Amino acid sequence: MNRSLMRSIFLLATVALGVYTQTLSKREPRLSTGQCAGEDCVVVARGFRAFTEGMDVLGANGRACADCHVPADHFQLSPSNAEARYQLLLIRRQFDSNADDPLFRATDANDFRTNGADASDFTNLRRHGLIRITFPLPANVRLVDESSGGLSDEREVDVWRAVPPVANLVLTGPDNQNPFPREPNSTGGYQRDGRFGSLEEQARNALKDHAKLVGEPPEGLVKDIASFERTIFSSGRARAIAEALRSGTAPTEDEELSELEAQGKAVFNRACANCHGGSGFSTTNRPVVFRYHDTKTQCPRALDTADPPRFVFTACAPELEQTVRTYEFTTATGEKVRRKSSDPGRALLSGFVMIAGQPAADDWNKLDVPGLHGIRHTAPYFHNNSAATLEEVVDHYIEFYKFVRAQQPPGVAPPVASTDGVNFDRQPKAEERAALLAYLRTL
Ligand code: HEC
Ligand code: HEC
Repeated sequence: MNRSLMRSIFLLATVALGVYTQTLSKREPRLSTGQCAGEDCVVVARGFRAFTEGMDVLGANGRACADCHVPADHFQLSPSNAEARYQLLLIRRQFDSNADDPLFRATDANDFRTNGADASDFTNLRRHGLIRITFPLPANVRLVDESSGGLSDEREVDVWRAVPPVANLVLTGPDNQNPFPREPNSTGGYQRDGRFGSLEEQARNALKDHAKLVGEPPEGLVKDIASFERTIFSSGRARAIAEALRSGTAPTEDEELSELEAQGKAVFNRACANCHGGSGFSTTNRPVVFRYHDTKTQCPRALDTADPPRFVFTACAPELEQTVRTYEFTTATGEKVRRKSSDPGRALLSGFVMIAGQPAADDWNKLDVPGLHGIRHTAPYFHNNSAATLEEVVDHYIEFYKFVRAQQPPGVAPPVASTDGVNFDRQPKAEERAALLAYLRTL
């Protein structure tokens, strides 16, 4: 096939993709697809091709971005998609011993640290859609060896994270507002922990980490991919918000809500918008108050010893429980703090935890607040795919608010759980659940 024919095919495919994302929301007027969301359409087409084609250059492992950010799965990876592909691979292998699906590379097997290239236990990937992300430990952080209780020699740690959808990315990056007390990217970034400040930085690292490209990826390739990513939206509405922000006009709030959805939006404004506020993240115009937060989604889950318990979180699946490690932090004043988590979040970037004090200023288990546009399409939820449905998400938050309340000394109602500093009134009530869910499904 000659090059110009290939290029035309990819251009067509990109336009088709644009039409597809815009028709996801039937409420929205169709927008012209010719604009490529302010990007050069030829660059976008090249980026689409790079995103979907496997990298077979520079020692790469043949993986493409689309192997994990599956276009037909709203650019995320659901556990059901991973499992179906695994079963298909087993069937293909009966006929062809070389059959391959680049999703199943040894680095993402549970037993990779013991069996290396021969690792073959893909439980976390198949059952939960999780990928291994390896972090170097900050200088003041050590891991505890569970069998001896002493410090281990490891200088890196693996955490397991779900593949987020690659959509609405122009809306969810750094916004120069309301900084968190610590870098990196104190006003927001990409990845679950916000550690990358731009899509280019993100793509460069994805090429090295997931596709195992050796050396620095070509800058043109990185720019092409980022340009393509800036054109992916979960709905015409999300695209229109991005266009409004780009042209400096204020995006309007949605008007076409049913009575139930409008009630749900009021609940959302009270219970959720302090973190998921702002039109980039939902359809509210409320500014974000909390940039990074711990919403108790990690394992092990907090347990209340009071009888009857004041909050009850759903227990983690046994495989997720097995990803828990104990960390020892040495604080600036030389004290040692040991804590357990399946994913300490931003504390792996900064090494900063506090012994006592304002939890908001601590990096322990803090994750970036994700955008919720198109959220109905991308179950399961949370960084470890631990909530199967939006119902489970809402139920988790009801317990989260009870947890916050149980933790507070008498007379203290923190802004995260209170609108007036006196009453614990942010928590969704049982009778508001249906309305809140109806609103979440409009996003
Ligand atoms: C092996 C699976 C896999 C592959 C291949 C992969 N990703 Fe990802 N991607 C992930 C996971 C897992 C995360 C979340 C990682 C984290 O938070 O530390 C992620 C995060 C992202 C994000 C951040 C989204 C957000 O909302 O913050 C972007 C953008 C992204 N990937 C783009 C890419 C691009 C571009 C490529 C190809 C160069 C790629 N990914 C290849 C698994 C993958
Ligand atoms: C204190 C800040 C805060 C509040 C309040 C909050 N969230 Fe979140 N939300 C977060 C953070 C941080 C995450 C990322 C957690 C994770 O990935 O494990 C998140 C994740 C989510 C997700 C999963 C997104 C995904 O792509 O997996 C959904 C859905 C969600 N929140 C909905 C809500 C709803 C509904 C409410 C109100 C009842 C709410 N949130 C209140 C901070 C908050």
